[in-house]
Amino acid sequence: MSDKRPIGVFDSGMGGLTVLSELQKKLPHENFIYVGDTARVPYGSRSERTVQRYSLEISEYLKKYDIKILVIACNTATAYAESLLKKSLEIPVIGVVDPGVDALLSRTGNHCVGVIGTRSTIKSQVYEKRIKKKNENITVFSKACPLFVPIVEEGWMEHEATKVIIADYLKPMAGEGIDSLVLGCTHYPLLKHAIQKSFPFIKLIDSSIETASSVSKILLEKNLERKSKTVGKIQILVTDLTDQMLGLEKLFLGFGGIKIKEVKIPEE
Ligand code: DGL
Repeated sequence: MSDKRPIGVFDSGMGGLTVLSELQKKLPHENFIYVGDTARVPYGSRSERTVQRYSLEISEYLKKYDIKILVIACNTATAYAESLLKKSLEIPVIGVVDPGVDALLSRTGNHCVGVIGTRSTIKSQVYEKRIKKKNENITVFSKACPLFVPIVEEGWMEHEATKVIIADYLKPMAGEGIDSLVLGCTHYPLLKHAIQKSFPFIKLIDSSIETASSVSKILLEKNLERKSKTVGKIQILVTDLTDQMLGLEKLFLGFGGIKIKEVKIPEE
């Protein structure tokens, strides 16, 4: 049987399109519906209870599209709301943290790893806790890198100032000898190239690629695949539509041209 119901994906804003982009590459025949909460972005500096409320409201809203699986593309929302959403929804819910953790554990050679993310993701210690649960002998160094989000949205991936900021944030953990680093934020995959140039010996883990592989496995296991030869549809919804969105769509998704629609998410 073919399941044509869409895959629901949400993020605090447009950054989660990095995850949608990998999902679309891996699963081109699937239909996707993406919600970017651009009216309330950023989540990365908000409290646990606020991120939980926003995440619940969006997942409730997505129910009306009859989604077959929910992908939490936002690291901060995964850190604070994944368990809550798993309890409250009857469909499979997958966040971006576990796929990143599994990739990190399989790739580290010296068991000394790094995690970077927003202030809230790092404060939650979600990565450390999940890494240690699977292997308590791993040493984890974490660092909040709040400047990376505006740098990426400004398109400053190769800017001289960015090199300085990357070095400032990452030198201490590189000095501790980490051999791999998880890019624990939707925006950071766009800095992969710049980070790799400054720290060529560190293996970078892109959660968006790992998440797409995990979603693909779940669809297969649960027999939820859309078995069709035609390319699926993508709908992009945002809670505040501005001109900047079109540029960000292209930046994060890798292509533009999908009509972005503004929607109102009912509040609790
Ligand atoms: N999407 C957020 C994350 O991955 C980054 C942007 C924000 O702070 O909302 O944590």
